[in-house]
Amino acid sequence: MREWNTPRSGAGAVPGRRSPSAAALLLLRDLIVQKTGVFFGDARIDMLEERLDEVVAARGVPSLLDYYYLLRYDPDAAAAWGELMDRLSVPETYFWRQPDQFQALVEVVLPRLAAARGGRPLRIWSAACCSGEEPLSLAMALDEAGWFGRVPIEIAASDASAALVARARAGVYGERSLRNLSPERRARWFTREGTGWRIDPALHARIRWATANLLDEAEAGPLAGADVVFCRNVFIYFSDDAIRTVARMLAARMPADGYLFIAASESLMRLGTGFVMDEVGSAFAYIRNPDPTPEANPAIPRRALPTSERS
Ligand SMILES: C[S@@+](CC[C@H](N)C(=O)[O-])C[C@H]1O[C@@H](n2cnc3c(N)ncnc32)[C@H](O)[C@@H]1O
Repeated sequence: MREWNTPRSGAGAVPGRRSPSAAALLLLRDLIVQKTGVFFGDARIDMLEERLDEVVAARGVPSLLDYYYLLRYDPDAAAAWGELMDRLSVPETYFWRQPDQFQALVEVVLPRLAAARGGRPLRIWSAACCSGEEPLSLAMALDEAGWFGRVPIEIAASDASAALVARARAGVYGERSLRNLSPERRARWFTREGTGWRIDPALHARIRWATANLLDEAEAGPLAGADVVFCRNVFIYFSDDAIRTVARMLAARMPADGYLFIAASESLMRLGTGFVMDEVGSAFAYIRNPDPTPEANPAIPRRALPTSERS
């Protein structure tokens, strides 16, 4: 990893001073976490620098500092943020990922919610859907359990990366995406197309796709009133503050009896977000803490945690 007080080019080094580009990189890191939630800690700063260098070169911007000003003040900043989000995204996903949560949804969560809603539509949101494997797996699980014939269900899926949402809208997948699917599901839901696999168009048409940044309440807020939210494998990339911001938005907008699914490797427990963990069938989900007071939802500083729980 590069030392922060050495210039990138080696020219003009002043001992004890950060080079202009190293300083600009840190400014960009702060701006990116504010705007997208994605935090590049010191262990991943080289990766951020590499990706920024590519974006900066592609745009023909002279330096990281110029790029910082472009993102902050340029009339073209929205387009530049879009390109950057596409570049920073980690498009790792696949069909039927952590299926215990789909089983919990169809066997435990939906029966409870359907009874409570009395025929009103149930709304499900896949909030960082990547190229669509997660919401399409949800739709498969709902169809296989007979839910579409039973109650009205709306599924929305969004991601901050417009390029990934475009891939989701296209609905054609490579072998890697299907690696966890049984031969039966592969045969039931896909047809060969070129070297890839096309998802069943009727299943695909059940999902409303959108581009939405979770940190932008104008974009994500209207989707966040869903009864069930899947927001999996995205908080692992976020700063604690960004996770809190998103969780608070969800707590404010989801119905009081809604369910939030995050990945098994993620946790909201120490962040004081107003959500508590609940066992649903053989999986865990987060539900709103009936007691919303700060005393009942303490944020535990990292240094107070046992070493094994610090990340
Ligand atoms: C590792 S994928 C997870 C996909 C899927 N949820 C799953 O669990 O398989 C993380 C996704 O989060 C998206 N993402 C990152 N920051 C985001 C933000 N601020 N708002 C919405 N999506 C974001 C990325 O574009 C990427 O598609």
